[in-house]
Amino acid sequence: MQDTKKGLEDVLALDTSICSIDGRQGILKYRGIEVEQLGQMSYDAVSYLLIHGKVPDQRELDSYSKKLRSERYINSDILNVLNVCNYGSEALDSLRTAVCCSAHMDTEKDDSSMEANMSKSIRLVAKFPTLVASVHRYKTGQLPIAPDENLSHGANFLYMLKGKVPTELEADAIEKDFILSAEHELNPSTFSLRITASTMADIYSAVITGLCTLKGPLHGGARKGVMNMLDEVSHPENAEKYVLDKLSHRQKVMGFGHRVYKTCDPRAKLFKDIARRLADEQGDSHWYDVAETLEHTMYREFMATKGKPIFPNVDFYSAVVYKYLDIPPELATSVFATGRVSGWVSHYFEQYANNRVIRPRANYI
Ligand code: ACO
Repeated sequence: MQDTKKGLEDVLALDTSICSIDGRQGILKYRGIEVEQLGQMSYDAVSYLLIHGKVPDQRELDSYSKKLRSERYINSDILNVLNVCNYGSEALDSLRTAVCCSAHMDTEKDDSSMEANMSKSIRLVAKFPTLVASVHRYKTGQLPIAPDENLSHGANFLYMLKGKVPTELEADAIEKDFILSAEHELNPSTFSLRITASTMADIYSAVITGLCTLKGPLHGGARKGVMNMLDEVSHPENAEKYVLDKLSHRQKVMGFGHRVYKTCDPRAKLFKDIARRLADEQGDSHWYDVAETLEHTMYREFMATKGKPIFPNVDFYSAVVYKYLDIPPELATSVFATGRVSGWVSHYFEQYANNRVIRPRANYI
């Protein structure tokens, strides 16, 4: 037996043409396009790019958007399930249940043809925002709001969440959040999804696997952790003490560090810019200032104690964006999943197209 690699660090587990990361230069591309450029596209176009492997022309985009918009609705049985399974505050638990129920109710559930899988993936991408917004409405004692087909993917989500059409900047912020959260190579949730896909299980089972893995605080759950941290720190002047306390107890500070990036995560830079613009629009830089002080203190302490920097990851400034969009911490991981579902289904298709069951070995000790 060879030596094992703890956490499978730097292990190349499979080939992909969906996403590439240059962790030293801080470059992230979906299908060969840098993430900075993807921000100029709509979420629908990025979702199409991920799933179909090409930038859609206008006719393809119009047809894809039309399908997504018409599939936004969820039926009353699912709403009843969400209303009944309304225990605790964590939205992801309800979302997972809703996706399980959607699988039961999908008339094509036992059809694993390419065509049926494509229809199911459109339903998943289209319905996630409605499911997440409905979870939130029930958890806050309000009735769900029906989707508005005239609004973009992101704007419609905020509308269903809050009952009012967002400002242009808010709509742009959530659209970009979905785009920047959509894909990230073999992150833990995508890897777990690909393992499920490799057993030839159905697409819902694979997406549910991804959801379960995303929940953990070292992965997608960190976004909620950052939001709670921002509340705990509360003022920029408390940030330094917070960081020093955490580090002296050898505890992690949520939203920092990354397995792959040795420089700043490009998504963190883009989210920081979005947070800045929301702070300006609202005339309130409070949360931005708290976050920036945490960032500077972490950088300084790592340089001083380890002789190397640490940078914010995708979850750090996205959490600040959620603060300004008034998205509660308990919803953060589910909103992340709403963007990520396009990446997940793309990986499902890629695994399915050239499958060999993923079955590594363990070193018996
Ligand atoms: N706070 C404090 N110290 C940290 C942090 C952090 N956020 N991240 C890494 N470190 C330190 C570790 O303590 C360790 O120090 P040591 O060498 O002195 O023991 C060193 O940096 C390496 O950290 P590891 O945890 O071994 O790095 P790994 O690659 O295994 O983990 C991870 C990466 C999980 C992202 C880690 O940085 C972390 O736990 N961050 C906080 C949680 C987080 O933000 N997760 C979201 C990641 S992005 C995403 O999944 C969507």
